[in-house]
Amino acid sequence: MNSFLSYMGGKSLLANKIIPRMPEHDCYCEVFAGAAWMLFKKEESDVEIINDINTDLVTLYRVVKHHLEEFVRYFKWALVARDEFKRLLDEKPETLTDIQRAARFYYLLRNSFGSKIPSPVFSIATSRPSNFNLLRIEEELSSAHLRLSRVYIENLPYEKLIPRFDRTNTFFYLDPPYFGCENYYGKNIFQREDFEKIRGILAGISGKFIMSINDTPETRELYKDFHIAEVSTIYQCTRNKRPKITELLISNF
Ligand SMILES: C[S@@+](CC[C@H](N)C(=O)[O-])C[C@H]1O[C@@H](n2cnc3c(N)ncnc32)[C@H](O)[C@@H]1O
Repeated sequence: MNSFLSYMGGKSLLANKIIPRMPEHDCYCEVFAGAAWMLFKKEESDVEIINDINTDLVTLYRVVKHHLEEFVRYFKWALVARDEFKRLLDEKPETLTDIQRAARFYYLLRNSFGSKIPSPVFSIATSRPSNFNLLRIEEELSSAHLRLSRVYIENLPYEKLIPRFDRTNTFFYLDPPYFGCENYYGKNIFQREDFEKIRGILAGISGKFIMSINDTPETRELYKDFHIAEVSTIYQCTRNKRPKITELLISNF
């Protein structure tokens, strides 16, 4: 199945190239979940954890998992309009209930150009209707609601998450921000130094991992002591321009 979110850096295309490479495991742990394309596309594992540092995003997962009816009801009288987009953008997420917070994040993501997380911009086109159909929210989210029913949802920085779930039978999938794009998902949540920190953590784990990262001389040098495989994919940056790129899959097996 597909994720219910379109997300900057989402691995909708790469998922099918990574899933066949996953080793046997009991516990699947997606460290930088974003829209969790890998989780939604793969078969269920016995135990599954998705994690992200973005509390708005994690609240959305928790609400889709536990309160789908209330979430759908929230949109009953909603409008897709620039004014509403601005009103929600100006709200402080910490002052909202979980359902309001999740709905705000979902609305902003679904109505913004290029799914920009820290600074969303209202998207409108003269060539097609809005892709946010308020009448189809329940239909679009019901399979995700079922898929998430047994998934643990965490809201931790990666360095706290990995040791917590590291066992010999754990498989970690990591998809951090691209090298050179550390700030794409928010300020000060991920820095250049984190690439070295991740390397240190991954060198000491008992479980297995695959990490996808952009192919640069720096990433090749940083992770040269692990296995490195190349896969080609398409960079979904705009509707018209879709350049082919190479991505690296770093692993310890
Ligand atoms: C490239 S995106 C993941 C995309 C995802 N694989 C998908 O298919 O949609 C990277 C994610 O890492 C999260 N992130 C950034 N810094 C983090 C940190 N220090 N700890 C945990 N998650 C972090 C961001 O919020 C973002 O959602």
